[in-house]
Amino acid sequence: MKAPILACIFDLDGVIVDTAKYHFLAWQRLAREMDISFTEADNEQLKGVSRVESLRIILEMGQIQLEEAQFEAKMAQKNEWFLEYIYQMSPDEVLPGVQAFLDELKAHHIRIALGSASKNALTILNQIKMRDYFEVIVDGNLITAAKPNPQVFLKAAEGLGIAPENCVVFEDAEKGVEAAHRGQMRAIGVGAPEILGEAELVIPGFAHFSLSDLNPLTH
Ligand code: BG6
Ligand code: MG
Repeated sequence: MKAPILACIFDLDGVIVDTAKYHFLAWQRLAREMDISFTEADNEQLKGVSRVESLRIILEMGQIQLEEAQFEAKMAQKNEWFLEYIYQMSPDEVLPGVQAFLDELKAHHIRIALGSASKNALTILNQIKMRDYFEVIVDGNLITAAKPNPQVFLKAAEGLGIAPENCVVFEDAEKGVEAAHRGQMRAIGVGAPEILGEAELVIPGFAHFSLSDLNPLTH
């Protein structure tokens, strides 16, 4: 029998809320300013990746090199545009079924944590009024190694006091699924099976999803 699930660790962008589209729009605007073509398919590479690493990837696409001060300025500009979208957000942007699933976990005393690469995670959670669901929040301000390094999820498990093998991670990024596995955790991919095929289970979203759908992972 496989280890029981005692905790669920959620990525934020693209899992709880569709902020992935706002990251894309802000990066695309920045790329356009530098005459770099940047499509939604290119954006797939940026999912789950830190802000610094994302800009590095975009600059590499355009074969552009920047001085450190310019690099910092571009990151700040992108974040300013991203936050313009974030401050417009309301709780109705929480993805369908997420709240019901979190309520179900709480009712079954399954512990809940957030493991996100974003430095804006608390701002986003407050904006959508979901802060109180998460017992432990590990975000981009608390980690030194980006996904696929498992640090963000291991810290979340440690914060909860639950062993990695008793945790399940929900992720929309290929690098996030890899991070979960490298941390000895099971992963549920939220999105397309073509991208998240390494996960133990891939779901299109949380609508109609319930705790019993995780049974195959434990039996
Ligand atoms: C991740 C997103 O959750 O956070 C990435 O998937 C993003 O696209 C990263 O770059 C860092 O976010 P932020 O808000 O700190 O720029
Ligand atoms: Mg994500």
